[in-house]
Amino acid sequence: MRDASLLVVTDDETLVEEINSNLSNDDIRIADTHHVEEMLKEQYSFILLDEWMIESINTQSIPTTSVLIVLMRDRSFENARKWMAMGASELIIIPDELDNLEAVLQKKDRMKRQDINHFNDEYVGLDGAGAVRVFYSAKGGTGKTLIASMVAQNLQIQYGQRVILIDFNVQFGGVEVLFGLDPERSYLDLLPVINELSINHIQNVTVKEENTGIHVLLSPADPEQIELISEELVTRIIRTCRNHFDQVIVDLPAAFNTATFIALHEATHIYYVMNPDSLSVRTLKHSVELFRRYQIGNRDNVSLIINRHNSKSELSEQNIAQFIDLPVSGIIRSDFYGLQPNLNMGKPFYLKKNDKGISKTAQDVKKMVRKSIVKGG
Ligand SMILES: Nc1ncnc2c1ncn2[C@@H]1O[C@H](COP(=O)(O)OP(=O)(O)O)[C@@H](O)[C@H]1O
Ligand SMILES: [Mg+2]
Repeated sequence: MRDASLLVVTDDETLVEEINSNLSNDDIRIADTHHVEEMLKEQYSFILLDEWMIESINTQSIPTTSVLIVLMRDRSFENARKWMAMGASELIIIPDELDNLEAVLQKKDRMKRQDINHFNDEYVGLDGAGAVRVFYSAKGGTGKTLIASMVAQNLQIQYGQRVILIDFNVQFGGVEVLFGLDPERSYLDLLPVINELSINHIQNVTVKEENTGIHVLLSPADPEQIELISEELVTRIIRTCRNHFDQVIVDLPAAFNTATFIALHEATHIYYVMNPDSLSVRTLKHSVELFRRYQIGNRDNVSLIINRHNSKSELSEQNIAQFIDLPVSGIIRSDFYGLQPNLNMGKPFYLKKNDKGISKTAQDVKKMVRKSIVKGG
C-alpha cells in the first residue's frame, strides 16, 4: 500500500501479531513500556496507540505531525470522546475492527496526499477521519432528505469524495425515490453480523447508484421493525462507514428516537434543516433545548440550513437570527417546478463535474457545499 512508517505502542504481543497480519506495510516498529519515550523522538506517519498504554506514556510527547490512531479495548462513548479530545484522529475497536486497519491507513494517506496536492486550499476542513454530516429537523417535510441527497451527490460528483448516504428513517425515508433505487436491502440486514461488522458487510447491503457512484444504505420498508434498531447497530454502522468513506451523509427522520439520538451524537456536523416560517422556528427552539439536555452538538458543530426560501417567505435570515443563535450554512430557494423532472424520474440533480444543477434548489445547494461545507469544514 503505502511506504509510510508506523509505530505501534503496546505491550501486547498478540496484538502486535494481529496488526502485522492485517497490514501489508513492512515498516512497522513496536514500542513497549521500556522504549516508548526514546522511540517517540523519531518521525512516524502513523502512531497506533493501545489504550492500555495510557498510564505508561506521556501523551504530550506524541508528535503532532503523526496521525494518531487509538486502539480501544471496548466501545465506550466516554473514552472515545476523551481520546478525540486528546488529538486522536481515528479510533479502532480491537479486535473487532482490526480488519479495517489497512483501509483506515489508506484513507488517511489518500487524504494527506490530496491535501498536499490540488485540494490544498479547498480541503482545510476535510482533513482527518471521514466526516459524518447529519441532516435533521424535528419537523417533517422541511427538506432533510432532499438536501442530504443533493449534498451527497455534490461531494461525490464535484469534489471526487467517496460518499455514503445513509437513510436512518424507520420506514422508506424517500432516498430510494430520489435515487430511483429498488429498496431490496436495508441497514437492518446488518443485525445478524453486528458483532463482527465490517465494511464488506455494509457494502453487501448498500446499493451503488449507477449515475453518481454514491453508495446508498436504505431504511427498512417495515415500520414494525423499529424496536430492532439498537444504539449499538447505529453506532457501529456509522463508525465503520467513517473508517472507509470520506463523507458519511446521514438523513434522519423528525422523530427523536434511538437512531436519531446516536447519529446526532456521532455527527461531526449537524445541519438543522428549517423553513423560513414561525412554526419552524418554534420547533427549532424546542430542539435546541433537547440538544442541550442530551449534550448533543456541544462541540459547536450545529448550523442551520434555511430551505424553501422565496420572495414571499414569512421570515428572513435576520428575523431568524433574532430568535436563534446558530450559524447559517445556506439559504436554499424553493423550486417546485424545477425539481419535478428529477423527483419523478429518480435522476441525479447534477450530471457531471461543474454541472451547476438543474433547479434553483440544486444550484443553491451546490453553492452552500462550496462555501460552507468544503471550505468551512
Ligand atoms: N427547496 C425546495 N423546493 C421545492 N420543493 C422542495 C424543496 N425542499 C423540499 N421540497 C419538497 O418537499 C417535500 C418534502 O421534502 P423532504 O426532503 O422529503 O423533507 P423531510 O425529509 O424533511 O421530511 C418533497 O416532496 C421535496 O421534494
Ligand atoms: Mg425525510
